[in-house]
Formats: sequence, C-alpha cells, structure tokens
Amino acid sequence: MNFRIMTYRAALLQSVWLAVIIITVSGCILEGTHYETEPAVQPPESFLLSWQSDPTTTMTIDWYPIPGTEASLAYRTRGEEQWQSVSGLTVPVPGIDRSFQRTELGDLQPDQRYEFRFDGSDSIYQFRTMPDRLTRPIRFVAAGDMLHRVGWMRNTAQSVMRIDSEGELDFAVIGGDLAYADGEARKVGRWFDYFRIWTEEMITSDNRVIPHVAAIGNHEIKRGYIYNYLPHEHQHPDFVRNEAPYFSTFIPFPGSDAYDVLDFGDYLSLFLLDSGHASFIKGDQTDWLRRAMYERGHVRHLIPVYHVPAWPSARDFDDFLGSEVRNYWVPLFEKYGVRVAFENHDHAYKRTHPIREGEIDESGIHYIGDGAWGVSTRQIHTDEDDNRPWYLAEADTLRHFIMGEIDGDIIRLNMYDEDARPIDEVIITAGFSSP
Ligand SMILES: [Fe+2]
Repeated sequence: MNFRIMTYRAALLQSVWLAVIIITVSGCILEGTHYETEPAVQPPESFLLSWQSDPTTTMTIDWYPIPGTEASLAYRTRGEEQWQSVSGLTVPVPGIDRSFQRTELGDLQPDQRYEFRFDGSDSIYQFRTMPDRLTRPIRFVAAGDMLHRVGWMRNTAQSVMRIDSEGELDFAVIGGDLAYADGEARKVGRWFDYFRIWTEEMITSDNRVIPHVAAIGNHEIKRGYIYNYLPHEHQHPDFVRNEAPYFSTFIPFPGSDAYDVLDFGDYLSLFLLDSGHASFIKGDQTDWLRRAMYERGHVRHLIPVYHVPAWPSARDFDDFLGSEVRNYWVPLFEKYGVRVAFENHDHAYKRTHPIREGEIDESGIHYIGDGAWGVSTRQIHTDEDDNRPWYLAEADTLRHFIMGEIDGDIIRLNMYDEDARPIDEVIITAGFSSP
C-alpha cells in the first residue's frame, strides 16, 4: 500500500515538473520567435532650439516625439547637398512614461544658416548661429509669464512674428513662469502645449526657428520659492532636479544649476538669474554674479534677466524678494555697467526711469518688464493718493513683449501690446539714455 502511495506521489510530482518544464521551454521558444514592433518613424510633435554653450558655434535641438513614434534628425549647412544624420540623447521626462531627444550640434560657423529636418516629413527648417562679433545688429524678444491660456500665448507669439516681418529675430529670452506647471507631473501637459505653440508660431516665413533661452520663475518649482523649504530639503544634492523637475529637464540652459551666464562673443552676456526660486539671491549666487560680472569687464552689453522685479509695477515695493534683488544684485549691476535689466512676475507692462543708487539718474539702469506675454494682467500699484511709484516712467495693465536691437553701443527697445500695437520705446546707449 505504502509502496503504491509513494509511486502515485512520485508520478504526480513527475507530471508537475514535466508541466513546469514544458511551460518554461515553450515560453522561451515563444520569446525567441517574438519580436517587438519598431516604433513608426514620424516627425515629432514639437521641438525647441536653445543653447547650452557658445551661441556662435553651437545649437541645441530638443525634439518631442509623438508617444509610440520615433523621430530622427538630419542637418546640413544651407546650400549644401548632403544631409548629416544626428542621433539624439534620449532624456526621460520625470514622473511620466515619456521621453524626448536632445542633441547639441557643435563646430558650426558663426552667423551661418543651417537647415534641419525630421525623417517622415518634407518640411525643412532653418536655424542661424549668432555672429562672433557685432558685425550686424542683434535682434531679440524679451518677455516672461507665458502661459496662463494657450490662446493668449499663441496670440502674443503671432504678434511678435508679425513685428519681425523681415524675419531678422535672433532669439527670445524668457524671464520665468513658462508653462505654469509648478513642477507637477499632473500638469506636465502644459509643457507640451508650450513647446507646440513655440514650434508652430515662433518661426519666420522662411521656416527659420527662433531659439529660446530662459530664466527660472516661481511656477517652475513645486513650492515657488526656496524659502519655503527647510535646510535639509534645499541642501539635498538633487534639490533642483527633484523640485523643479521640468524646468531642469526641458530647459537646457541654465538647466539644473538654475542660474548661469550665456556669452555671445564679447559683445553680449545674458545673465539668467534665479530670483529666489531654486537658489537663494544672496550668498553663493550673488558671489558668483560678482565674479562673473567682474570677469566680463570687456563685454560691451551685460544684460540680466530674472523673474521677481527689483522695481515692481504691481506688487509691493517692500516685498522680500524684490528688496533682496535691490540689496544684493542692483549694486553689482551698477558697478559693472549694466544699462538695462529685464524683470517679470508682476503681469503688467513697466519701464522705469534710469536708476542709480536709488535715484533717477541718466547714467542709471532701465528696468523693463514686468512679464505678461500670456497671462491675466494686474493693476499698476498706486499709493493712497493714487500716485504711482516714483521710479515708473511708463506702466500699463497690458499683455506685451519687448523687441530689442543691439547695434554697436546702442540698444533700441520697442514695446508692443499683445496685438502688436506699439506702446513704448527707449534708446539706451553706453554714455547716456533718452526715452
Ligand atoms: Fe511669477
């Protein structure tokens, strides 16, 4: 009996093992014969041109494939026959199951047009590197506070390109609050809206794409301001990557450092500063700024761009961050020959009188902003007697943009409202200024 039971058990065990082996082997065979479908090659949903290093010899191209598709890039010097294929680095988008491609083209010629295209599309786009010397006027648009509503951002973008009817715009510099996604995965779609609008609108009639550089704003980081974090939180080595995940991933420069300077030959240095969002204003950043400005004594135009205004049009003059900018950065701007700074965050238009040492002074700095490309606007600040702050030369509750032209020592700034109507202008020179 025992013998028979043992035999029965042994037989049962043997069948179970046999079944396991059959399932495993057939799984392996199936695995071996299975192959994954290659993602379809399609042009990307959108793309963004920017710089991580020298704007006269490089161009960074980010492109965002439609999920489930693949997009490859080729480029050539304009006028040449042969395309050069480029493989991008795959960059995962934090918090979601999506990635994008990034490549930095190097060894380019200054002030040269290049063409690029994506496989699966007949469209040929262009970009232009910056000149290495100021041999021609440089044209840019400066703005901030971009995307409360898709319609507003798109409309202002169309107006910018209408004003640039000759197709001469070199780049755009954005002073924070881009997609209004607050570093949150559930709002990441706003970034893709942002890139789509930029791709569709910020392009000349001959398909030349306008490069984009940006400083950080409060809507790029989860809690808005570094002051809202405890020391052990902001001292974490991955603080910026964790708390401003999309700005530090999507925006190649300044990226995870949150502030830096972009040098255009020795004629222009754009200081993209962090007005207290992922970095403190005083301390390391101010020390760096002092050194960086000192080292650029030979550069003709030093232009700071940042989010929170030192000279606010709508918010209170005594707000903490604006006071910090005035206390720590403004003295450096004045010492090292800054003539114009672009400020944002207040969602109105403003131009200050030239200011030096807290007073109106023709040799002072013009602060222009205050960030309202595609956001709801705010009322200009007044006191109980209905007086505007002494430092405001012009101010209005308007969505707007600033068109800049650097021509030798002269900076011409023409301001327009969201529908491309002129609202203000100023000419700033090395020695004096006149509105
Ligand atoms: Fe803001």
